Amino acid sequence: MATRRSIIRLGGSMTTKRFESRSAEETAEIAQHFGKSAAPGDIFCLSGNLGAGKTVFARGFAKGLGYEGAVTSPTFTIMNEYTGIRLPLYHFDLYRLEDATDLESIGYEDYFFADGVSLVEWPERAEEVFNSKNIYRVQIKTDLSQGEEFREITVENSGD
Ligand SMILES: Nc1ncnc2c1ncn2[C@@H]1O[C@H](COP(=O)(O)OP(=O)(O)OP(=O)(O)O)[C@@H](O)[C@H]1O
Ligand SMILES: [Mg+2]
Repeated sequence: MATRRSIIRLGGSMTTKRFESRSAEETAEIAQHFGKSAAPGDIFCLSGNLGAGKTVFARGFAKGLGYEGAVTSPTFTIMNEYTGIRLPLYHFDLYRLEDATDLESIGYEDYFFADGVSLVEWPERAEEVFNSKNIYRVQIKTDLSQGEEFREITVENSGD
């Protein structure tokens, strides 16, 4: 049966979720939950220092989408594509990019605005590109006072 649903929302509704992780496995588990509920067109920007756990997050996220194989940083290829799962996953690593012009030259719009989900490590390299809706800002922070493997993970979504 065909149905129509209208959603009217006044004003922005920012939501922030905060997690504490004490191991790579825990970070992957948190990410897996987001992979399970991700929708087409979602873009997850993953921020955090070198070695913070962005790729670990990507691994768990891919698992949540149904991908069981290996996930490694696409540092030299810029983007790895995973298909044959619930939604296509485009995993970007912009570390080696100079600026957004480089991103344009690989035709990023074909991915960000397609029916898959994008995960972007080092979004700071092309910040001006990430201004659309459906952006989730994931921050992974270490806090050595809480141990080497501690990470604070926040996931913020503008919601409109
Ligand atoms: N709580 C944790 N969450 C995630 N990773 C952790 C945690 N504790 C330890 N680690 C370790 O930290 C490292 C994170 O590496 P990862 O490649 O995911 O970092 P990255 O943020 O992608 O770095 P880069 O900027 O170089 O791509 C892994 O070796 C992982 O085992
Ligand atoms: Mg990485």
